[in-house]
Amino acid sequence: MADDPDGSGAASPWLASDVARGAAYDLRFERLASSGTHVHGEADLVASLAPATVLDAGCGTGRVAIELDRRGVEVVGVDLDPEMLSRAREKAPALAWYQADLARLDLGRRFDLVLAAGNVMVFLAPGAHGAVLRALARHLGPGGLLLAGFSLGDGRLDPGTYDELASDAGLTLVARWSTWEREPYSAGAAYAVSLHALESAPDQASRFPGMRRPASRARERA
Ligand SMILES: C[S@@+](CC[C@H](N)C(=O)[O-])C[C@H]1O[C@@H](n2cnc3c(N)ncnc32)[C@H](O)[C@@H]1O
Repeated sequence: MADDPDGSGAASPWLASDVARGAAYDLRFERLASSGTHVHGEADLVASLAPATVLDAGCGTGRVAIELDRRGVEVVGVDLDPEMLSRAREKAPALAWYQADLARLDLGRRFDLVLAAGNVMVFLAPGAHGAVLRALARHLGPGGLLLAGFSLGDGRLDPGTYDELASDAGLTLVARWSTWEREPYSAGAAYAVSLHALESAPDQASRFPGMRRPASRARERA
């Protein structure tokens, strides 16, 4: 990983930012929920893929991990930010929470699905995406899935580059949507939710009828 030789996360754009953390981060979602807005689109999409085990990579305050646990999924949360993790531990002390930089992650186990929700990819240090994708891929078991959602544009990581880095990590694009509710993705979308699978996995695209198959895979099948 570039720009963070001691692994302290000192170069982390997230840690350097003045965004709301801990309880203040949760407040926005609590307000949305109390106004009747459904705030569990991420958990809904994960649950629809039926994983038994999930690594919530960049779990923050445990917003999604805690909901997955409530739905019976075995979940482990990892985050760099002690303030976010302390809030997660306060809300769900029985769950497994680890403080680590995703670029160097080695939990010594594999999961059915790795989730990177809520712009984790946007908040990585410049040059860290490849190392993070390789580390996340190493935590996937056979047939494992990586599901990530992040904002696009304004010089942020673009889906093409993300797919290339994912491919270098042994991951193949299965599907891409523009929202967690699976609205279709098209060029120019402001947000992308991308589902990749280990290349050794069976055809995952067939699990999503009506899904526009990524062009390269469609060509392979023509
Ligand atoms: C916007 S928050 C999203 C939190 C959570 N996934 C959610 O959806 O509510 C982004 C999170 O990514 C974490 N993060 C950023 N870079 C990281 C890294 N290199 N390793 C681990 N976590 C990281 C931050 O600490 C932060 O908690």
